[in-house]
Amino acid sequence: MRIILFSGKGGVGKTTVSASTGYRLSKLGYKTIVVSLDPAHSLADAFDLSEEERAKAKGLPIKISENLYIQEIDVQEEVDRYWGDVYRFLEILFNTTGLDEVVSQELAILPGMEEVTSLLYVNKYYKEKEFDVLILDLPPTGESLRFVSMPTVLKWYMKKIFKTERLVMKVARPVVGRISDVPLPDENYFKALENFYEKLKGVDEILIDPEVTSVRIVANPEKMVIKESQRAFMYFNLFGVNVDAVIVNKVLKLEEKDCPFLKRWIDSQRRYLEDIKAMFSPVPMFEVPMLDEEVFGQERLSYLADLIYGDRDPAEVFFKEKPYEFIPQEQGYLLKIRAPFLSKERVDLLKGEEEIIVRVGNFKSHILLPRRLRNMEPTGAKIREGYIYINLVSEN
Ligand SMILES: Nc1ncnc2c1ncn2[C@@H]1O[C@H](COP(=O)(O)OP(=O)(O)OP(=O)(O)O)[C@@H](O)[C@H]1O
Ligand SMILES: [Mg+2]
Repeated sequence: MRIILFSGKGGVGKTTVSASTGYRLSKLGYKTIVVSLDPAHSLADAFDLSEEERAKAKGLPIKISENLYIQEIDVQEEVDRYWGDVYRFLEILFNTTGLDEVVSQELAILPGMEEVTSLLYVNKYYKEKEFDVLILDLPPTGESLRFVSMPTVLKWYMKKIFKTERLVMKVARPVVGRISDVPLPDENYFKALENFYEKLKGVDEILIDPEVTSVRIVANPEKMVIKESQRAFMYFNLFGVNVDAVIVNKVLKLEEKDCPFLKRWIDSQRRYLEDIKAMFSPVPMFEVPMLDEEVFGQERLSYLADLIYGDRDPAEVFFKEKPYEFIPQEQGYLLKIRAPFLSKERVDLLKGEEEIIVRVGNFKSHILLPRRLRNMEPTGAKIREGYIYINLVSEN
């Protein structure tokens, strides 16, 4: 199965390009599902679905045509379906601490729930092999990054916190239960969490397998958008997720010489297009023109797909380069991490039992060490020409 993630700044055209790509793939004979995390339902809008059709789906897949399905994840529904026990516990907890019911329901939607839910689906669809291609229309960049970092965060939580918490509860419940109004999570809560975690198992490996997963960054030829795309590109690399294309959408193609207003826009876009090419090279760039109206309905989506991909197959992996590698040295190894655009930021290193944690700004990446390197220590990070280099040497 192929998994294609579309990420980018708000409003650049992620949903439209996801829908277009899905449409094209289904026509090429791939059984395709386009999944969106957007609570605004713009994916259903792109396919021009009625309010009724969408409401009926309750966050489950909707069949569009022979090979094409769309799914707009509804977190509240997912909570009812999967998170029952965890959710109920949190609700009771918030209720007893004096918050009214509506607020506590809102709060019980844990931060990152959207991301976790879509990860669940990624894993489910990957394992069930029902679809040939899964397209994920990610939320704007910040949350996209949270999405790809979520598996490691969860793993860490389950490993380090969960076990201790559960142990403490077993010991503490008989005592605390008698003297406090605040309920303690019961065994069901932990069972539900464990069960949930079980369902997520393996998803991190799927995301960093370049044969399976690609990110396509959607951008527009504008200064702010390019900046955000650059950052996203770096972080995806850091997390080990392969970016196989940059799709520059809404490019003005008119030769509007008589209109000074448009001419200035076109000139400015041209400069930015050159910048983008230079920045993301050798990752291929797909230019998509601005159409003369919004992109709704299958006919327009199909037309846009032609403009994006021409006769190329969107399921292809357009580019593949290892985000990081271990290069043997005379003494020890050199860990080389692709980190384009990284310049002044500080790189912090932390060595765990099985991994090196590389922290840049607010983001942390855990790079799993091959077994034979686990007893080696990192000695400082150097940034050179788009890569971070870390020396790994034996302790003794
Ligand atoms: N190439 C294009 N030409 C003309 N209109 C476009 C093009 N691409 C997208 N649009 C329009 O731009 C608007 C925003 O697109 P879209 O909803 O796909 O962006 P998005 O990145 O998903 O936004 P959000 O971050 O809010 O989810 C839509 O009305 C869409 O029809
Ligand atoms: Mg969208």
